[in-house]
Amino acid sequence: MRLIVVDNYEAMSRKAANMVAAQILLKPESVLGLATGSTPLMTYQFLIKLYKDETINLDGVTTFNLDEYVGISKGNENSYHYYMEENFFKYVNIKSENQHIPDGNATNLEAECFSYEKKIKSKGGIDFQVLGIGNNGHIGFNEPDLKFEAVTHPINLDDETIKANSRFFESEAEVPKKAITMGVRTIMNSRKVILLANGQNKTETIYKAIYGKIDPHLPASILQLHPDVTFILDREAASLIKDTSDMQYVDLYL
Ligand code: GLP
Repeated sequence: MRLIVVDNYEAMSRKAANMVAAQILLKPESVLGLATGSTPLMTYQFLIKLYKDETINLDGVTTFNLDEYVGISKGNENSYHYYMEENFFKYVNIKSENQHIPDGNATNLEAECFSYEKKIKSKGGIDFQVLGIGNNGHIGFNEPDLKFEAVTHPINLDDETIKANSRFFESEAEVPKKAITMGVRTIMNSRKVILLANGQNKTETIYKAIYGKIDPHLPASILQLHPDVTFILDREAASLIKDTSDMQYVDLYL
């Protein structure tokens, strides 16, 4: 595992965008796995900038989003379809047929999950996966569980996640109770993974994900076993990680 600790949210986002950009420059037909939530917002802004100044071209890129809520329309401003369109896709040149997000309104959710997983495989798998992390250690919407084995599947969201995500909705009651998510197995099959976290509400979860027992009750802990994973953290999220506090910029292999 590689650990990069930078001063603040902006530096974390710049670092993440630069790593995605390098991936695209080295392999213009890359398959990217993309995340939503507040954490990667500025990463998308930096990527848009890199596209606008012609450093990167996303014409050959294919994307697969990690997850989507079940039961809200694509046009709902809290859907991940809307998020991706408004925060990234409409500003760059990824072909619409190459943008993939699970359909949370599919009549048969199991069939949708099966076909999503199949599409990922048919594109040769994910080259580079971007992740955030939930307060309970979830990645995508893989909530704490008894097993790590799942591929893309429908999931009932935990009360903690519903509460945490209610900040984007009018009220907690409006937060969908269900989602579709790539599974931990799908994520672990990605060739390269970066996980971004900032702020003090992620500090303890990050500490457990990096140093804790590898346990499906903290889904992100399995990343300790990924052969090419980088955690990019700001100082606050990294504050329980020893030996980094008096360094300017920390780049560690654990
Ligand atoms: C959601 C998403 C995750 C995301 C997490 C953290 O539940 N499904 O992919 O990583 O929230 O969100 P935030 O970045 O807003 O803290």
